[in-house]
Amino acid sequence: MSEQKDIEDATEHAEMQPDTLLAHAGRKPQEFHGFVNPPLVRASTVLFPDVESMQGRGDSRYSYGLTNTPTIEALTGAVDTLEMSAGTVLVPSGLAAVTVPVLAFAEPGTRLLVPDNVYWPTRRFCDESLNGLGVETVYYDPLTGAGISDLFAAERTILFLEAPGSQTFEMPDLVTMVAAARAANVITMIDNTWATPLIYRPIEHGIDISIQAGTKYLAGHSDLLIGTVSASEAAWPRLKQFHRNIGVQAGTEEIWLTLRGLRTLGVRLERHEKSALEVARWLSGKPGVCRVLHPALSSCPGHEYWQRDFGRSTGLFAFELDGSADQAKALLDALQLFGLGYSWGGFESLAVLAELGARRTACPWTGGPVIRLHIGLEDTGDLMADLDRGFAAMQSV
Ligand SMILES: Cc1ncc(COP(=O)(O)O)c(C=O)c1O
Repeated sequence: MSEQKDIEDATEHAEMQPDTLLAHAGRKPQEFHGFVNPPLVRASTVLFPDVESMQGRGDSRYSYGLTNTPTIEALTGAVDTLEMSAGTVLVPSGLAAVTVPVLAFAEPGTRLLVPDNVYWPTRRFCDESLNGLGVETVYYDPLTGAGISDLFAAERTILFLEAPGSQTFEMPDLVTMVAAARAANVITMIDNTWATPLIYRPIEHGIDISIQAGTKYLAGHSDLLIGTVSASEAAWPRLKQFHRNIGVQAGTEEIWLTLRGLRTLGVRLERHEKSALEVARWLSGKPGVCRVLHPALSSCPGHEYWQRDFGRSTGLFAFELDGSADQAKALLDALQLFGLGYSWGGFESLAVLAELGARRTACPWTGGPVIRLHIGLEDTGDLMADLDRGFAAMQSV
């Protein structure tokens, strides 16, 4: 049998297209008797042949189930290939993928800069848990661009980014903000869940930490929670050490299912993108819709940065209703295909009424009710018919 080749080294295979990487990354068939997929290895204990190798466990590939198994290694290797990162750690949720790197790099006296449109539980973590540790959070207007430098503290600063922001989808000027941070020695982290590394590879653009709520597109089937945190060469030692010290790891089954989801990420995203754009453009002309907040449409603040930095989109966007909150509720309650549920990134379409009120402080939301949609893999005609049902119900309020 000819030797099976692995795609392990991200640098070496950078020229390969994402769909090819998705099909091969993290697989080592020759290590597992030729089986295409890596095994699901549930493990705490690893046995050593003698005391000497036990004492030298720091040098072994596997020493305890918390730090590495063939299953963990398969996913971290695949994510490193996609992210072009020096190293990746896995955590049990997307929220933990936010909190773990922040905790790893924050010290008492650190100023953490967070966009006002950040995923709300990230904000809750900052306000309710971080402030007790002597970390000051300052919320900034996501469209501030070069103005971010004015917020850098004399001492340690971490710049947290999310692109586009949650619920209202403003797209930040990543190029300007990251350049300013680098010039001032500010650590940068981005929640890149919306774009995935297929559309934007943060580390290639000078960002230190790339965060994925793998729960969404990587896994893609609404059946698990997982987070990935990938680091640049400079940030990797500190992230790796903190992850080992804090004792969190994703569940084995979740890791294995995420690997399975990854294989179809490319084709799923293509379909999410196409269908979401079709529904978004259709909504743009609808009576009852003020504005569609989709970074690929010029009606979305920061659209020009999306065009420059991403150029592609996924399935999640929102629209602002020309109506009351009660009408928004009536619209949502009438939907039959769209599920009313949190999360997104799965095969099925979802809708939520955005909660913006007290959740914005740097640039409060002054518009009408906002409905967020995740466009799944269903037929778009059926989805638009479902939304039409909602618009009809809204008229009767
Ligand atoms: C942008 C963003 N980041 C992180 C998360 C957290 O992911 P998880 O639900 O896996 O904790 C979410 C969840 O909705 C999200 O929308």
